[in-house]
Amino acid sequence: MSQPIHIAIIYNEPTVETDNGREFAFNAGVEHAHHGVWVSAAREHGKIDLSEVGVIEEKEDIQSALRAIGYETSIFNMSDDLDRFLAYLKAMQPDVIFNMVESLGDDAIHEMHVAGIYELLGISYTGSGPLTLGMCLNKARTKEMLMFNGIPTANFKLVGDASTLSEQHLEMSFPIIVKPSAEDASVGIDNNSIVYNFPDLVKRTDFIVKKFREAAIIEEYIEGRELNVAIIGNNPPLVLPISEIDFSGLPADYPKIVTYDAKWMDGTKEFEGTKGVCPAMLPLDVEHEVKDVALRAYKLMACRDYARVDIRLSKQMKPYVLEINPNPDLSDDAGYFRSVKTYGLSYAEAIGKIVGFAVDRRIEKKRS
Ligand SMILES: Nc1ncnc2c1ncn2[C@@H]1O[C@H](COP(=O)(O)OP(=O)(O)O)[C@@H](O)[C@H]1O
Ligand SMILES: [Mg+2]
Repeated sequence: MSQPIHIAIIYNEPTVETDNGREFAFNAGVEHAHHGVWVSAAREHGKIDLSEVGVIEEKEDIQSALRAIGYETSIFNMSDDLDRFLAYLKAMQPDVIFNMVESLGDDAIHEMHVAGIYELLGISYTGSGPLTLGMCLNKARTKEMLMFNGIPTANFKLVGDASTLSEQHLEMSFPIIVKPSAEDASVGIDNNSIVYNFPDLVKRTDFIVKKFREAAIIEEYIEGRELNVAIIGNNPPLVLPISEIDFSGLPADYPKIVTYDAKWMDGTKEFEGTKGVCPAMLPLDVEHEVKDVALRAYKLMACRDYARVDIRLSKQMKPYVLEINPNPDLSDDAGYFRSVKTYGLSYAEAIGKIVGFAVDRRIEKKRS
Protein backbone atom coordinates (compact mmCIF):
# COMPACT_ATOMS: atom_id res chain seq x y z
CA MET A 1 0.00 0.00 0.00
CA SER A 2 1.26 3.45 -0.79
CA GLN A 3 2.03 5.92 1.99
CA PRO A 4 -0.91 8.12 2.98
CA ILE A 5 -0.54 11.73 1.83
CA HIS A 6 0.49 14.02 4.65
CA ILE A 7 -1.30 17.37 4.69
CA ALA A 8 0.15 19.99 7.01
CA ILE A 9 -2.40 22.58 8.09
CA ILE A 10 -0.31 25.68 8.62
CA TYR A 11 -1.70 28.67 10.50
CA ASN A 12 -0.39 31.53 12.56
CA GLU A 13 -1.80 31.95 16.03
CA PRO A 14 -3.47 35.36 16.31
CA THR A 15 -2.38 37.72 19.08
CA VAL A 16 -4.70 39.49 21.48
CA GLU A 17 -4.23 42.53 23.69
CA THR A 18 -3.82 41.54 27.35
CA ASP A 19 -2.81 43.37 30.51
CA ASN A 20 0.75 42.26 29.75
CA GLY A 21 0.70 43.62 26.20
CA ARG A 22 0.08 41.60 23.04
CA GLU A 23 0.20 37.85 23.53
CA PHE A 24 -0.63 34.89 21.37
CA ALA A 25 -4.26 33.89 21.85
CA PHE A 26 -3.02 30.50 23.01
CA ASN A 27 -0.90 32.01 25.80
CA ALA A 28 -3.70 34.34 26.76
CA GLY A 29 -5.93 31.31 27.33
CA VAL A 30 -8.20 32.07 24.39
CA GLU A 31 -7.62 28.82 22.55
CA HIS A 32 -9.64 26.54 24.75
CA ALA A 33 -12.41 28.94 25.53
CA HIS A 34 -15.79 28.69 23.91
CA HIS A 35 -16.57 31.22 21.17
CA GLY A 36 -19.16 32.90 23.41
CA VAL A 37 -16.41 33.68 25.90
CA TRP A 38 -14.41 35.50 23.23
CA VAL A 39 -17.45 37.51 22.24
CA SER A 40 -18.01 38.75 25.75
CA ALA A 41 -14.27 39.41 26.21
CA ALA A 42 -14.27 41.40 23.00
CA ARG A 43 -17.32 43.34 24.05
CA GLU A 44 -16.06 44.05 27.55
CA HIS A 45 -12.50 44.96 26.83
CA GLY A 46 -12.46 45.60 23.09
CA LYS A 47 -9.21 43.69 23.10
CA ILE A 48 -9.82 40.58 21.11
CA ASP A 49 -10.30 40.85 17.38
CA LEU A 50 -12.87 38.16 16.69
CA SER A 51 -12.11 38.23 13.00
CA GLU A 52 -8.66 36.86 13.81
CA VAL A 53 -9.39 34.25 16.45
CA GLY A 54 -11.76 32.52 14.03
CA VAL A 55 -8.80 30.57 12.66
CA ILE A 56 -8.58 28.65 15.93
CA GLU A 57 -11.83 26.86 15.18
CA GLU A 58 -11.29 26.83 11.44
CA LYS A 59 -8.13 24.72 11.50
CA GLU A 60 -9.85 22.08 13.61
CA ASP A 61 -12.86 21.92 11.28
CA ILE A 62 -10.45 21.42 8.40
CA GLN A 63 -8.44 18.75 10.17
CA SER A 64 -11.56 16.70 10.96
CA ALA A 65 -12.64 16.92 7.32
CA LEU A 66 -9.21 15.89 6.00
CA ARG A 67 -8.98 12.98 8.44
CA ALA A 68 -12.42 11.77 7.46
CA ILE A 69 -11.22 11.66 3.84
CA GLY A 70 -8.22 9.56 4.87
CA TYR A 71 -5.34 12.03 4.75
CA GLU A 72 -2.67 12.02 7.38
CA THR A 73 -2.69 15.48 8.95
CA SER A 74 -0.72 17.69 11.26
CA ILE A 75 -1.42 21.21 12.46
CA PHE A 76 1.44 23.66 12.79
CA ASN A 77 1.23 27.07 14.42
CA MET A 78 3.90 29.36 12.97
CA SER A 79 3.87 31.58 16.08
CA ASP A 80 5.59 34.30 14.06
CA ASP A 81 8.76 32.18 14.19
CA LEU A 82 10.20 31.59 10.74
CA ASP A 83 13.21 29.53 11.87
CA ARG A 84 10.99 27.13 13.78
CA PHE A 85 8.70 26.89 10.78
CA LEU A 86 11.51 26.07 8.36
CA ALA A 87 12.86 23.46 10.79
CA TYR A 88 9.40 21.92 10.95
CA LEU A 89 9.08 21.69 7.18
CA LYS A 90 12.51 20.11 6.92
CA ALA A 91 11.76 17.55 9.62
CA MET A 92 8.20 16.66 8.60
CA GLN A 93 8.41 17.09 4.83
CA PRO A 94 4.65 17.38 4.36
CA ASP A 95 3.35 16.43 0.91
CA VAL A 96 0.94 19.33 0.73
CA ILE A 97 0.22 22.43 2.83
CA PHE A 98 -3.28 23.51 3.69
CA ASN A 99 -2.53 27.21 3.91
CA MET A 100 -4.40 29.09 6.63
CA VAL A 101 -1.79 31.78 7.26
CA GLU A 102 -3.23 35.29 6.99
CA SER A 103 -0.44 37.32 8.54
CA LEU A 104 2.84 37.17 10.38
CA GLY A 105 3.81 39.43 13.26
CA ASP A 106 0.34 40.99 12.96
CA ASP A 107 1.18 42.18 9.48
CA ALA A 108 -1.19 41.00 6.77
CA ILE A 109 1.27 41.76 3.96
CA HIS A 110 3.27 38.72 5.08
CA GLU A 111 0.38 36.50 3.98
CA MET A 112 1.85 36.74 0.49
CA HIS A 113 5.42 36.24 1.67
CA VAL A 114 4.53 33.02 3.47
CA ALA A 115 3.01 31.69 0.24
CA GLY A 116 6.28 32.78 -1.40
CA ILE A 117 8.19 30.54 0.98
CA TYR A 118 6.10 27.53 -0.09
CA GLU A 119 6.85 28.48 -3.70
CA LEU A 120 10.58 28.74 -3.08
CA LEU A 121 10.63 25.41 -1.27
CA GLY A 122 8.59 23.81 -4.04
CA ILE A 123 5.84 22.62 -1.71
CA SER A 124 2.35 22.41 -3.13
CA TYR A 125 -0.24 24.40 -1.11
CA THR A 126 -3.92 25.24 -1.19
CA GLY A 127 -5.36 28.53 -2.36
CA SER A 128 -4.00 31.51 -4.20
CA GLY A 129 -0.39 32.39 -4.91
CA PRO A 130 1.61 35.31 -3.50
CA LEU A 131 0.79 37.87 -6.17
CA THR A 132 -2.97 37.31 -5.88
CA LEU A 133 -2.87 37.39 -2.08
CA GLY A 134 -0.88 40.62 -2.04
CA MET A 135 -2.88 42.31 -4.77
CA CYS A 136 -6.30 41.54 -3.29
CA LEU A 137 -5.14 42.84 0.09
CA ASN A 138 -4.52 46.15 -1.63
CA LYS A 139 -8.14 47.10 -2.26
CA ALA A 140 -7.34 50.29 -4.17
CA ARG A 141 -4.94 48.54 -6.59
CA THR A 142 -7.51 45.79 -7.07
CA LYS A 143 -10.17 48.36 -7.92
CA GLU A 144 -7.83 49.99 -10.42
CA MET A 145 -7.32 46.63 -12.09
CA LEU A 146 -11.06 45.98 -12.15
CA MET A 147 -11.74 49.38 -13.70
CA PHE A 148 -9.03 49.01 -16.31
CA ASN A 149 -10.56 45.70 -17.34
CA GLY A 150 -14.14 46.94 -17.50
CA ILE A 151 -15.37 45.14 -14.39
CA PRO A 152 -17.73 47.51 -12.55
CA THR A 153 -16.65 48.72 -9.10
CA ALA A 154 -17.64 51.88 -7.20
CA ASN A 155 -15.76 55.15 -7.88
CA PHE A 156 -13.17 55.75 -5.22
CA LYS A 157 -10.15 57.66 -4.02
CA LEU A 158 -7.27 56.61 -1.83
CA VAL A 159 -6.65 59.27 0.80
CA GLY A 160 -3.54 59.24 2.97
CA ASP A 161 -4.21 62.60 4.61
CA ALA A 162 -7.74 63.96 5.12
CA SER A 163 -6.51 67.56 4.86
CA THR A 164 -5.72 66.99 1.18
CA LEU A 165 -9.40 66.39 0.37
CA SER A 166 -10.95 69.14 -1.72
CA GLU A 167 -14.68 69.52 -2.18
CA GLN A 168 -14.10 71.15 -5.56
CA HIS A 169 -11.99 68.29 -6.89
CA LEU A 170 -13.85 65.43 -5.26
CA GLU A 171 -15.72 64.39 -8.40
CA MET A 172 -17.66 61.80 -6.45
CA SER A 173 -21.28 61.75 -5.36
CA PHE A 174 -22.54 61.31 -1.83
CA PRO A 175 -23.27 59.16 0.08
CA ILE A 176 -19.69 57.94 0.43
CA ILE A 177 -18.41 55.05 2.54
CA VAL A 178 -15.02 55.47 4.25
CA LYS A 179 -12.95 52.32 4.83
CA PRO A 180 -9.42 51.45 5.86
CA SER A 181 -7.48 50.52 2.71
CA ALA A 182 -5.69 47.39 3.92
CA GLU A 183 -7.92 45.66 6.47
CA ASP A 184 -10.49 42.99 5.93
CA ALA A 185 -13.32 41.22 7.74
CA SER A 186 -15.18 44.55 8.16
CA VAL A 187 -12.50 45.91 10.49
CA GLY A 188 -13.06 49.68 10.66
CA ILE A 189 -16.64 49.51 9.34
CA ASP A 190 -19.38 50.71 11.71
CA ASN A 191 -22.67 52.59 11.68
CA ASN A 192 -20.80 55.87 11.08
CA SER A 193 -18.89 54.66 8.00
CA ILE A 194 -21.30 56.26 5.52
CA VAL A 195 -21.12 60.04 5.20
CA TYR A 196 -23.52 62.39 3.45
CA ASN A 197 -21.61 65.66 3.18
CA PHE A 198 -18.08 67.00 2.75
CA PRO A 199 -17.32 68.08 6.36
CA ASP A 200 -18.32 64.62 7.64
CA LEU A 201 -16.22 62.99 4.92
CA VAL A 202 -13.13 64.87 6.09
CA LYS A 203 -13.85 64.00 9.72
CA ARG A 204 -14.40 60.31 9.10
CA THR A 205 -11.41 60.00 6.76
CA ASP A 206 -9.17 61.63 9.34
CA PHE A 207 -10.50 59.25 12.00
CA ILE A 208 -9.81 56.14 9.88
CA VAL A 209 -6.35 57.27 8.73
CA LYS A 210 -5.28 58.00 12.31
CA LYS A 211 -6.86 54.94 13.86
CA PHE A 212 -5.42 52.42 11.40
CA ARG A 213 -2.30 54.36 10.45
CA GLU A 214 -3.03 53.62 6.82
CA ALA A 215 -4.70 55.39 3.91
CA ALA A 216 -8.49 55.39 3.76
CA ILE A 217 -10.51 54.39 0.73
CA ILE A 218 -13.41 56.73 0.17
CA GLU A 219 -15.88 55.05 -2.11
CA GLU A 220 -19.28 55.89 -3.58
CA TYR A 221 -21.90 54.07 -1.58
CA ILE A 222 -23.85 51.53 -3.63
CA GLU A 223 -27.32 51.47 -2.17
CA GLY A 224 -28.82 48.08 -2.77
CA ARG A 225 -28.55 44.37 -2.10
CA GLU A 226 -25.32 42.69 -0.99
CA LEU A 227 -24.22 39.40 -2.52
CA ASN A 228 -21.36 36.97 -1.89
CA VAL A 229 -20.25 34.81 -4.76
CA ALA A 230 -18.29 31.72 -3.79
CA ILE A 231 -16.15 30.15 -6.50
CA ILE A 232 -14.31 26.82 -6.39
CA GLY A 233 -11.77 25.27 -8.73
CA ASN A 234 -9.58 26.15 -11.65
CA ASN A 235 -10.07 24.39 -14.95
CA PRO A 236 -12.70 25.74 -15.17
CA PRO A 237 -13.70 27.45 -11.91
CA LEU A 238 -17.23 26.71 -10.74
CA VAL A 239 -19.48 29.53 -9.50
CA LEU A 240 -21.59 28.27 -6.60
CA PRO A 241 -25.12 29.49 -5.77
CA ILE A 242 -25.14 33.18 -4.85
CA SER A 243 -25.55 34.04 -1.19
CA GLU A 244 -27.19 37.28 -0.01
CA ILE A 245 -26.92 39.29 3.19
CA ASP A 246 -30.47 40.04 4.25
CA PHE A 247 -30.52 43.38 6.09
CA SER A 248 -34.26 43.40 6.75
CA GLY A 249 -33.78 42.57 10.44
CA LEU A 250 -31.81 45.76 11.11
CA PRO A 251 -33.50 48.70 12.86
CA ALA A 252 -34.79 51.16 10.22
CA ASP A 253 -32.22 53.84 11.04
CA TYR A 254 -29.19 51.50 10.78
CA PRO A 255 -27.16 51.58 7.56
CA LYS A 256 -27.58 48.45 5.44
CA ILE A 257 -23.94 47.36 5.49
CA VAL A 258 -21.92 44.56 7.03
CA THR A 259 -20.26 46.31 9.96
CA TYR A 260 -17.69 44.68 12.24
CA ASP A 261 -20.43 44.05 14.81
CA ALA A 262 -22.73 42.58 12.16
CA LYS A 263 -20.04 40.11 11.20
CA TRP A 264 -18.62 39.15 14.58
CA MET A 265 -20.44 40.49 17.64
CA ASP A 266 -23.01 37.89 18.48
CA GLY A 267 -25.88 39.46 20.41
CA THR A 268 -25.71 42.96 18.89
CA LYS A 269 -28.60 44.37 16.84
CA GLU A 270 -26.25 44.41 13.86
CA PHE A 271 -25.39 40.72 14.21
CA GLU A 272 -28.97 39.64 14.79
CA GLY A 273 -30.30 41.83 11.98
CA THR A 274 -28.02 40.61 9.18
CA LYS A 275 -28.59 37.09 8.00
CA GLY A 276 -26.97 35.14 5.21
CA VAL A 277 -29.48 33.67 2.76
CA CYS A 278 -28.67 31.18 0.03
CA PRO A 279 -29.64 30.98 -2.74
CA ALA A 280 -30.32 34.68 -3.30
CA MET A 281 -33.63 35.20 -5.08
CA LEU A 282 -32.68 37.15 -8.19
CA PRO A 283 -34.13 37.60 -11.65
CA LEU A 284 -32.37 35.12 -13.95
CA ASP A 285 -30.62 37.76 -16.04
CA VAL A 286 -29.29 39.49 -12.92
CA GLU A 287 -28.09 36.15 -11.53
CA HIS A 288 -26.20 35.46 -14.76
CA GLU A 289 -24.65 38.91 -14.79
CA VAL A 290 -23.56 38.70 -11.14
CA LYS A 291 -21.97 35.28 -11.70
CA ASP A 292 -20.26 36.48 -14.86
CA VAL A 293 -18.83 39.58 -13.15
CA ALA A 294 -17.61 37.48 -10.18
CA LEU A 295 -15.97 34.93 -12.44
CA ARG A 296 -14.25 37.63 -14.49
CA ALA A 297 -12.91 39.16 -11.27
CA TYR A 298 -11.70 35.73 -10.04
CA LYS A 299 -9.85 35.11 -13.29
CA LEU A 300 -8.49 38.65 -13.55
CA MET A 301 -6.92 38.42 -10.11
CA ALA A 302 -5.62 34.91 -10.93
CA CYS A 303 -7.43 33.41 -7.94
CA ARG A 304 -6.80 29.72 -7.43
CA ASP A 305 -8.77 26.85 -5.82
CA TYR A 306 -11.34 28.94 -3.93
CA ALA A 307 -12.31 32.55 -3.38
CA ARG A 308 -15.29 34.73 -2.55
CA VAL A 309 -16.23 37.84 -4.51
CA ASP A 310 -18.28 40.46 -2.61
CA ILE A 311 -20.74 42.40 -4.75
CA ARG A 312 -23.37 45.11 -4.23
CA LEU A 313 -26.29 45.52 -6.60
CA SER A 314 -27.32 49.08 -7.38
CA LYS A 315 -31.01 49.96 -7.25
CA GLN A 316 -31.03 49.32 -11.01
CA MET A 317 -29.70 45.80 -10.23
CA LYS A 318 -26.31 46.46 -11.75
CA PRO A 319 -23.50 44.54 -9.97
CA TYR A 320 -20.47 46.35 -8.53
CA VAL A 321 -17.52 44.39 -7.15
CA LEU A 322 -16.61 45.48 -3.61
CA GLU A 323 -13.61 43.22 -3.18
CA ILE A 324 -12.17 39.81 -3.96
CA ASN A 325 -11.27 37.53 -1.07
CA PRO A 326 -8.76 34.84 -2.00
CA ASN A 327 -8.49 32.16 0.71
CA PRO A 328 -11.73 33.22 2.46
CA ASP A 329 -12.79 31.90 5.87
CA LEU A 330 -13.35 28.14 5.72
CA SER A 331 -14.99 27.53 9.09
CA ASP A 332 -17.98 25.26 8.89
CA ASP A 333 -20.35 28.17 9.61
CA ALA A 334 -18.70 30.72 7.28
CA GLY A 335 -20.51 32.36 4.36
CA TYR A 336 -18.49 30.38 1.82
CA PHE A 337 -20.12 27.17 3.00
CA ARG A 338 -23.66 28.49 2.69
CA SER A 339 -23.04 28.41 -1.04
CA VAL A 340 -21.17 25.09 -0.95
CA LYS A 341 -24.01 23.40 0.93
CA THR A 342 -26.72 24.94 -1.24
CA TYR A 343 -24.87 23.56 -4.24
CA GLY A 344 -25.09 20.13 -2.60
CA LEU A 345 -21.57 19.47 -1.35
CA SER A 346 -20.86 18.64 2.28
CA TYR A 347 -18.20 20.49 4.26
CA ALA A 348 -15.81 17.56 4.00
CA GLU A 349 -16.42 17.18 0.26
CA ALA A 350 -15.57 20.83 -0.40
CA ILE A 351 -12.45 20.72 1.80
CA GLY A 352 -11.51 17.52 -0.04
CA LYS A 353 -11.87 19.27 -3.41
CA ILE A 354 -9.78 22.25 -2.28
CA VAL A 355 -6.95 20.10 -0.97
CA GLY A 356 -7.30 17.89 -4.03
CA PHE A 357 -6.30 20.78 -6.31
CA ALA A 358 -3.05 21.17 -4.36
CA VAL A 359 -2.47 17.40 -4.36
CA ASP A 360 -2.89 17.37 -8.16
CA ARG A 361 -0.39 20.21 -8.54
CA ARG A 362 2.09 18.16 -6.51
CA ILE A 363 1.63 15.18 -8.78
CA GLU A 364 2.05 17.37 -11.89
CA LYS A 365 5.20 18.88 -10.44
CA LYS A 366 6.67 15.44 -9.71
CA ARG A 367 5.98 14.35 -13.28
CA SER A 368 7.63 17.35 -14.87
N1 LIG B 1 -19.09 50.97 -2.03
C1 LIG B 1 -19.86 50.37 -1.13
N2 LIG B 1 -21.21 50.48 -1.22
C2 LIG B 1 -22.01 49.88 -0.30
N3 LIG B 1 -21.56 49.18 0.74
C3 LIG B 1 -20.23 49.02 0.89
C4 LIG B 1 -19.31 49.59 -0.04
N4 LIG B 1 -18.06 49.28 0.34
C5 LIG B 1 -18.20 48.54 1.47
N5 LIG B 1 -19.49 48.38 1.81
C6 LIG B 1 -20.03 47.67 2.99
O1 LIG B 1 -18.97 47.45 3.92
C7 LIG B 1 -18.69 46.06 4.10
C8 LIG B 1 -17.20 45.81 4.21
O2 LIG B 1 -16.54 46.30 3.06
P1 LIG B 1 -15.50 45.46 2.21
O3 LIG B 1 -14.97 46.36 1.16
O4 LIG B 1 -16.10 44.18 1.77
O5 LIG B 1 -14.35 45.21 3.26
P2 LIG B 1 -13.93 43.97 4.16
O6 LIG B 1 -12.66 43.50 3.57
O7 LIG B 1 -13.74 44.56 5.51
O8 LIG B 1 -15.01 42.93 4.07
C9 LIG B 1 -19.32 45.39 2.88
O9 LIG B 1 -19.66 44.06 3.17
C10 LIG B 1 -20.53 46.28 2.61
O10 LIG B 1 -21.63 45.97 3.45
MG1 LIG C 1 -15.89 42.11 2.34
